[in-house]
Amino acid sequence: MCRGERAKPTMKTSVAIYPGTFDPVTNGHLDLIGRGEKMFDRLIVAVLKNVDKEPLFTLPERIEMLREVTKQWDAVEVDVFDGLLVEYARKRGAGVILRGIRAVSDYEYELQMALMNRKLEPRLETVFMLPGESYSYLSAKLVREIAQLGGPLTGLVPTVVEQRLRSKVS
Ligand code: PNS
Repeated sequence: MCRGERAKPTMKTSVAIYPGTFDPVTNGHLDLIGRGEKMFDRLIVAVLKNVDKEPLFTLPERIEMLREVTKQWDAVEVDVFDGLLVEYARKRGAGVILRGIRAVSDYEYELQMALMNRKLEPRLETVFMLPGESYSYLSAKLVREIAQLGGPLTGLVPTVVEQRLRSKVS
């Protein structure tokens, strides 16, 4: 660049997708959404319309809970996707897939997915973020199990999700 010449302001906007099953959304997911919301111009929380898994909550229920608990963030959108994640990202103009890594045990699966997604769409980057340490042992699977066995859910899920879980398993 020549002397006196100013760097052109970039018009870059970043759209990230945070995909998952969210059955149901936990405080760990929410922690990650809050961190992602600070990093990206737009964060799309994309719920997989999964035909293989037998979820506890229906797709509309999972969407409704996610919308409720993310309503304080204007830059966060909740959507549904079907089929390949890379196709959905292309359709939505997203350049980043956001995923959380809680512990080393998550790494192998996440690495495999990230590399496969890169193979399918080299322009798409996977960004890993760490949720708060207090959520490192938290998973939607364990939350469902605790709810089904009548255990306490305080601090694990937002209040609205706790209420839904209680009525779902009662
Ligand atoms: O919350 P989860 O169940 O860990 O999320 C997994 C998810 C939805 C991110 C993953 O299963 C996915 O992206 N599925 C979409 C289908 C796809 O693109 N498969 C190839 C990925 S390597």
